[in-house]
Amino acid sequence: MNMAMKEVDYEQPQADVSGSVCATKHAWARVPVEPSQSERAALKGKIRHLLKEKNAVMVSHYYVHPDLQDLAEETGGLVSDSLEMARFGRDHSAKTLVVSGVRFMGETAKILSPEKRILMPDLEATCSLDLGCPVEEFSAFCDAHPDRTVVVYANTSAAVKARSDWLVTSSCALDIVRALKDKGHKILWAPDRHLGGYIQRETGADMLMWNGSCIVHNEFKAIELQGLMQQHPGAKVLVHPESPADVIALADAVGSTSGILKAAHDMDAREFIVATDNGMMHKLRTLNPGKVFLEAPTSGNSATCKSCAHCPWMAMNSLADVARVLETGANEVQVDPAIIPRARLPIDRMLAFTSALKGGHDTGSLVPNIGAA
Ligand code: 13P
Ligand code: SF4
Repeated sequence: MNMAMKEVDYEQPQADVSGSVCATKHAWARVPVEPSQSERAALKGKIRHLLKEKNAVMVSHYYVHPDLQDLAEETGGLVSDSLEMARFGRDHSAKTLVVSGVRFMGETAKILSPEKRILMPDLEATCSLDLGCPVEEFSAFCDAHPDRTVVVYANTSAAVKARSDWLVTSSCALDIVRALKDKGHKILWAPDRHLGGYIQRETGADMLMWNGSCIVHNEFKAIELQGLMQQHPGAKVLVHPESPADVIALADAVGSTSGILKAAHDMDAREFIVATDNGMMHKLRTLNPGKVFLEAPTSGNSATCKSCAHCPWMAMNSLADVARVLETGANEVQVDPAIIPRARLPIDRMLAFTSALKGGHDTGSLVPNIGAA
């Protein structure tokens, strides 16, 4: 399959006085060429067959190509947010998981199920938050603030997870930080400064921030969004909290990918403006046929780049590579076995906490009890 190399430049965030600097200035991704209708049908048939033959299941994120989302669901797998992908991968009995998403999702699956074979269409599909939080600098930041409880976002390496006390995704970050704050914890937060800022504003928690950002959500623009809102006065605005604070301030609902889906379903409006990766549009449109979804603006007068609102690394996932890795066993995710037990601890805490919130029981997890600071 031919690959087009896509260069993605973005500005390095300024260090703030309390935080640390994201070191990543430059990103790249291989974007697969779109297959023809007949190639797609052939690849889907081959993948269906291979999944059965290899006792494998597919787990896809909402941002990957619609074909990979649909195929996961059609074959008994899952399309979801990063939290439910982790839970599903851990609980499913299949011996092999194919994770269509970005690297931290495959690593989380491996940490939770070291005995399973975790395959990814492209192992170089990463995330600017993960790249911008190298473990050596992060560890030094933690060492300098031993009085703080370390809370990290799922979009990080296994080594960074192993240095943390709690893991969160955008689905549960508010609840977990609020519970920690209520028990008197001061937080060291990494890596997304926008999600961290949102949680700090909502909870009033004492949070010291790492200075990372998502190259996709960082590009949503408040001024252009206001212009679009004026053109569509009845539209509700749905925003992922990795977006800048001035964009979040315009939202009718702020939430993770699954939170955005729920809000679109529950809200009594016909039009929605959506500030998140546009891979999300597939599910939003198929689940809400009577509603209209518009992409929030990422470029215009106040833009620093012409972003397309699609994660270059999520775009690396292709049908052809899913078929290839299932056939050959290539691209198996490896995590250093020495760090797995420590990296698993904060993930187990998150899964147990969220399960308890839903009134469920989380087998094999730690008691989701947050002790006093
Ligand atoms: P969710 O946890 O909301 O699925 O988001 C993951 C992600 O990478 C968002 O950019
Ligand atoms: Fe990372 Fe942003 Fe891509 Fe999500 S959309 S994987 S946060 S770069």
